[in-house]
Amino acid sequence: MSAQWRERGPDSRHLTPMREGQLDTIMAIENAAYALPWTRGNFVDSIASGYLAHCLLDEHDVVLGYSVAMRAADEIHLLNLTVAQHEQGRGHARHMLDILVAGSREASATQLWLEVRESNSRARELYRRYGMAEVGLRKGYYPAAAGLKRATREDAVVMRLALEEVT
Ligand SMILES: CC(C)(COP(=O)(O)OP(=O)(O)OC[C@H]1O[C@@H](n2cnc3c(N)ncnc32)[C@H](O)[C@@H]1OP(=O)(O)O)[C@@H](O)C(=O)NCCC(=O)NCCS
Repeated sequence: MSAQWRERGPDSRHLTPMREGQLDTIMAIENAAYALPWTRGNFVDSIASGYLAHCLLDEHDVVLGYSVAMRAADEIHLLNLTVAQHEQGRGHARHMLDILVAGSREASATQLWLEVRESNSRARELYRRYGMAEVGLRKGYYPAAAGLKRATREDAVVMRLALEEVT
């Protein structure tokens, strides 16, 4: 699916489809955000596969954050949602979720799914306040960060939003 989700709201932030020319900036944000970041190839493949890959830009087209989601049947799987460190806490993630949810509903998707590290309390709080429910646990879903032992694999919390219930 290659829906172009429309920007909503009066502010100067705007969402654009992710382009390979933005990947240097995206990789800098990604590497700073995660112990086990996506590779450049993950983003290239996501774009090539027609995933819902978008960047949130400011009025000067500087990348504030990005999201990557995949449609499978009538469900949307959010694979990556990241905001640049110095831009966090300003509502950018919530804004990207708003647009993702609106676009998903327009495309008649019924559910939004994601996995989040159990220790990522900030992201879990974001999703919980957004109305997502924690519906399961995937044991040892995330590999250990480089240099750590296999025993330190981390569980994923599975979260779900029923889109028809969003108002
Ligand atoms: C998680 C993340 C995407 C949130 O982005 P953000 O733009 O800072 O979030 P927002 O400003 O939109 O905040 C939305 C909600 O997040 C939560 N939140 C934001 N900043 C927070 C903080 N400092 N402490 C706790 N919760 C916080 C709040 O629940 C907030 O809800 P509110 O709007 O009702 O106050 C961002 O911190 C990030 O990129 N983290 C690193 C990557 C990551 O963990 N991604 C998620 C992977 S599943």
